[in-house]
Amino acid sequence: MFLQIGFFLQLIHLLGAAIALPTEQIPLQDGSSKDVQIIRAELKKAEIIPTVIDDFLPSITISVSWSKKEAKLGNTLKTKHVQDQPTISIYDETSPDAFTNSNMTYVVTLTDPDAPSREDPKWSEMCHWIASNITLSQKMYSILPISFSTEQEKEIGKDIDEIMEWKPPGPPPKTGKHRYVFLVFAPKNGTTETLHLTKPKDRQHWGTGEERGGVRDWAEENELVPVGANFMYSQNKKQS
Ligand SMILES: *[C@@H]1O[C@H](CO)[C@@H](O)[C@H](O)[C@H]1NC(C)=O
Ligand SMILES: *[C@@H]1O[C@H](CO)[C@@H](O)[C@H](O)[C@H]1NC(C)=O
Ligand SMILES: *[C@@H]1O[C@H](CO)[C@@H](O)[C@H](O)[C@H]1NC(C)=O
Repeated sequence: MFLQIGFFLQLIHLLGAAIALPTEQIPLQDGSSKDVQIIRAELKKAEIIPTVIDDFLPSITISVSWSKKEAKLGNTLKTKHVQDQPTISIYDETSPDAFTNSNMTYVVTLTDPDAPSREDPKWSEMCHWIASNITLSQKMYSILPISFSTEQEKEIGKDIDEIMEWKPPGPPPKTGKHRYVFLVFAPKNGTTETLHLTKPKDRQHWGTGEERGGVRDWAEENELVPVGANFMYSQNKKQS
């Protein structure tokens, strides 16, 4: 009984906030700082920290979704379900006012550190995507009967600047599961101006010419710092 009353009060509160959108910011739910701790823990468990990127505490969450599936911090997805360029949304988990107050743009990358396989990463890392000019989305509650997300996602997709065009995951036969790692970067100096990013000469080794050369080198060169991540696993259907 108490639970139900609490639920309705919360719903009424949320609806009130929703009606006031988009000028009024909905307060963040408790536990968002826990979420970013979970992201970091999962990145370590999958050895993305420190293999792909140095240790960092995320402040941004990124949702990556295709028509049927989404990346969920290390789930395994069929390669055929992740061929299209995904829809991405990024949310600031630590600064509730960022959506309204910040004009900073972010960069999202996709890298495969397991090319051609995790045991033998001689082509690693493989650059799959670099997209810049990405702005924050406002966090929505799925509990709400009204959804703004479709319109918002269109808005986001429109102005993305692709530095390296989307290359769909294509893990070769018999190479086991590959980690496909999405990273979100912010400009180190916090500039709100358009970023002038370099395009890697090559996808393999991110153009560094060195085994294990990858997104970390490229980010350093472009004075970007990691602020968020998500990842999934995928493998070729033929494993024997
Ligand atoms: C963000 O950009 C808008 C429109 O260009 C401007 O009015 C606003 O002052 C900017 N905010 C900040 C924090 O720079
Ligand atoms: C970046 O996004 C803004 C609007 O959010 C748009 O006006 C601008 O053309 C975009 N820049 C690039 C290089 O795509
Ligand atoms: C911030 O860094 C970028 C790239 O490193 C540089 O082009 C830009 O001039 C810097 N902006 C400011 C305001 O320091």
